Amino acid sequence: MIDHITIGRIQDSAQIADVVSDFVTLRRRGVNFVGLCPFHDDRTPSFYVSPSKNICKCFACGEGGSPIHFVMKHEQLNYYEALKYLARKYNIEVVEKEYTDEEKQAQSDRESMFILNEYARDYFVKMLHAHPEGKAVGLSYFRERGFRDDIVKKFQLGYSLEQRDAFSTEAQKAGFQRDFLLKTGLSAGGEHNQPLVDRFRGRVLFPVHTLSGKVVAFGGRILRKVENVGKYVNSPESEIYSKSKELYGLYFAKSAIVKQDKCFLVEGYTDVLSMHQAGIENVVSSSGTALTHGQIRMIHRFSENITVLYDGDAAGIKAALRGIDLLLEDGMNVKVVLLPDGEDPDSFAKKQNAEDFNRFIAENEVDFIRFKTKLLLEEVGDDPIRRAGLISNVVESIALIPNAITRSVYIQDCSQLLKMQERVLIAEINKISHRNYSKKIEQKDREAARIETREAIPVEKGAPAAKGSVKNHFDRYELQILRYVVRYSNTPLYRKFEKQKRKEGKNVIEEDVLVDEGPGVTEFVRYDLERDNIFFTNDLYRQIFDEAVAHLEDTDFDSGRYFLSHPLAEISRLASELMSDRYHLSKIHAKILGEEQGDKGSRLLEENHLNTYVPRATTELKNAYVLHKIQEIKKELNTGNQGEMTALITQLQQLQEIKRVLSKELGERIVLRF
Ligand code: CTP
Ligand code: MN
Repeated sequence: MIDHITIGRIQDSAQIADVVSDFVTLRRRGVNFVGLCPFHDDRTPSFYVSPSKNICKCFACGEGGSPIHFVMKHEQLNYYEALKYLARKYNIEVVEKEYTDEEKQAQSDRESMFILNEYARDYFVKMLHAHPEGKAVGLSYFRERGFRDDIVKKFQLGYSLEQRDAFSTEAQKAGFQRDFLLKTGLSAGGEHNQPLVDRFRGRVLFPVHTLSGKVVAFGGRILRKVENVGKYVNSPESEIYSKSKELYGLYFAKSAIVKQDKCFLVEGYTDVLSMHQAGIENVVSSSGTALTHGQIRMIHRFSENITVLYDGDAAGIKAALRGIDLLLEDGMNVKVVLLPDGEDPDSFAKKQNAEDFNRFIAENEVDFIRFKTKLLLEEVGDDPIRRAGLISNVVESIALIPNAITRSVYIQDCSQLLKMQERVLIAEINKISHRNYSKKIEQKDREAARIETREAIPVEKGAPAAKGSVKNHFDRYELQILRYVVRYSNTPLYRKFEKQKRKEGKNVIEEDVLVDEGPGVTEFVRYDLERDNIFFTNDLYRQIFDEAVAHLEDTDFDSGRYFLSHPLAEISRLASELMSDRYHLSKIHAKILGEEQGDKGSRLLEENHLNTYVPRATTELKNAYVLHKIQEIKKELNTGNQGEMTALITQLQQLQEIKRVLSKELGERIVLRF
């Protein structure tokens, strides 16, 4: 039990941004921070952290709360465990009475397993460094392989003695129950009250850590080659360990990944160690298995740039090519480095100093899709049939990239490499995207439902005519955009903090200064709509917009005041409606804004999020156009003559692809309802 005074101290000390940033990379956004939500598959930052209120919240999935809640949820801890976690983090002494046997029993299984794993790690470390057998066999093995002692210590490497029950016996003496020894997989056997046997006996051990540094599992490497015995033995899957969810080395890599904004991916434990030893710390290992979405998401929280290091042999490359598609699909920027023939990162890092290794990576790092294209090109030569296969293979990868702009860059690139016309590639990609899209819909009912609701564009037939123009499908979307134009006009979409130096007397003070960046709202809207050839269809709206555009260069332009006092009564009336909040306050939105600092605060907060809200509004208008066009084409397909059929279908496919991209973008932003 923890007494109330201590709980109070923990609550006072725990800073939300500080706590969350151990697991999520946060960027400043006005008075708040944002990052990718760790609780759902988040591709655009939806996770908000408010230091002033000391809470966090995901606006997409709703998770969040106080620092304690966050830790409970993220680390799967109960209330007291979370308090203890925070106490450790903030060096607050927690006075607890010794656990009685009953209390020990009552502790959650998970915590017991973690405690046991920690005990085991310490035990194995001790054996490696202090036991004669450990030193003679284990430690000398690491040294022979060229691992420095500081690396061995840092990664908490250990050794399990040859004696078949050395650890199991010791652990039971220390009070650990058989049940947990078996559950963690540290011990095996034990049927009919037989003694337990050590799983890892005679092996050197690599503990596997969670993001917060707890030990969830071990990998044990055999020291000599033995026929029919696996080189590695790993902890079995358990309540605390799922191999496909952990990434070896992430705990030691995360801050370096953030700093370099890049993550290296290698195959094995020893690759991670050697790279650290060479001074490259932003590296993780997938432990020999194919990457999973969960693992990628963990990396994605810290950076979206990933570079995969391959062993230089052909078989390895071919196998690895497949795993990469998953990375593309998750929106990562993927590069690859091919090591010289016969080398893996471990052996290669050891052959040279850090500087050379880094230079090699810098010089040989290539973009994945280009890499794949070139590799396959070399392989198929001039054989036309195999060439066709190659093209569809490359195109499959490109189709997975979620960002439309990135995708089009690749299409250009590959059309040159493959000597194919861009439009042929695009048609091919559309086909695949369409197929993938349908597949996804089937798989993900929930997501599908979300996209589906967007298709139901209300056709307001016979609605009363709006001032000056007939209401159509697009009116509400246009109005939403106009609202931002009237309220914010030349306010820039993006702002960021920048370190600036300032002289004060003799001292130079470095401080964070808010600087504006990027286009203003009106400028952005004009650019974004014009490039898709979209204009306001409502005459009144168009007039307002044109007047806002006319004041683009005027930095002091107070658009609110200007339109409110506009000589045309219709305009000033509409402006006053748009300046009041009732147009946009959806439930979620209202909650976010209202909770902050009342009305003035709501405007401030909205202003901080213009870079999300405004592009969202223009995207929604585009989406409405696409859906409208699709309906039209479908109608035409039903009535049209055979000759036009193919052209219409091609057009339809292209629209479906655009719709897919737009739906995705919309689905991932904060859902606003009007
Ligand atoms: N692996 C495993 N079980 C095996 C073989 C491999 O779990 N039987 C995993 C380990 O995580 C290993 C990774 O796959 O680190 C890569 O395998 P491999 O390249 O064979 O091992 P290395 O890590 O390179 O180990 P070493 O350098 O000691 O040979
Ligand atoms: Mn290897």
